[in-house]
Amino acid sequence: MCGRKIQQRTGRNVVSAPIDLRRLTTPQDLFQAAADEVIHAATEAVAQRGRFTIALSGGSTPKNLYTLIAANASANLPWAQMFFFWGDERHVPPDDPDSNYRMAKEAFLSKIPVPPGNVFRIPAENPDAAAAAEAYEQTLRKFFAVGAGEFPRFDLILLGMGPDGHAASLFPETAALQEKSRLVVANWVEKLGTSRITFTLPLLNAARCVAFLVSGIDKAEALHEVLEGNAPGEKYPSKLVQPSAGKLIWFVDRAAASQLSTAA
Ligand code: 6PG
Repeated sequence: MCGRKIQQRTGRNVVSAPIDLRRLTTPQDLFQAAADEVIHAATEAVAQRGRFTIALSGGSTPKNLYTLIAANASANLPWAQMFFFWGDERHVPPDDPDSNYRMAKEAFLSKIPVPPGNVFRIPAENPDAAAAAEAYEQTLRKFFAVGAGEFPRFDLILLGMGPDGHAASLFPETAALQEKSRLVVANWVEKLGTSRITFTLPLLNAARCVAFLVSGIDKAEALHEVLEGNAPGEKYPSKLVQPSAGKLIWFVDRAAASQLSTAA
């Protein structure tokens, strides 16, 4: 594994905060490196603040990470002090095959000794997606004890990236990208013909650490655009994820990194 600091561009501006790009050879190397980071972040947060708050992502790349953690770290993590949330959810009930909650439950949460009260899913069975988003925002505000105008700081937010550059359910040129004050919103995604429920950019960017997991050749073009291109962030929303006072780590495998100008 090798890490390096690079400057991230957003539109025409070069952002001053460096990002931490970790290039792994195979997808399996990527899952292992990300699992090590989760374990490190959890251990450190519990030692320093007595608890670890993590937001999980949907997608096949994070799923492989969850499977690995469940298989290997079960005995080593302070599960009772770990609190699980979701950065986005499909607008379906929790038992639906498309549910991000269901995926994490099957791959991960059902295999580890986490207290059920530490798991906070998005109530996406509500036929009103906006009401589901509002309910989850209240769940977050209560858990983190933050009032209007404040944003909680997750210890770690895990994100995948779609081939179109979306992160969480912040898709290109969708309304949620403009949100400045809410923590969670319903986001209509025209190309999917459905609403998604998603963390907003200010909530993502308030985190202590955001970690992207990007694997596969189908992500190569978007990864190049996000890290090195000049297209506006509205076209590649992952570009807009830049924690203001936290770490940003990109775990990428060789296939995903194959269009970076510095491809190894
Ligand atoms: C979802 C996600 C989404 C996902 C990316 C990457 O609900 O699908 O939260 O943002 O992480 O689309 O997914 P893959 O890892 O499957 O490519």
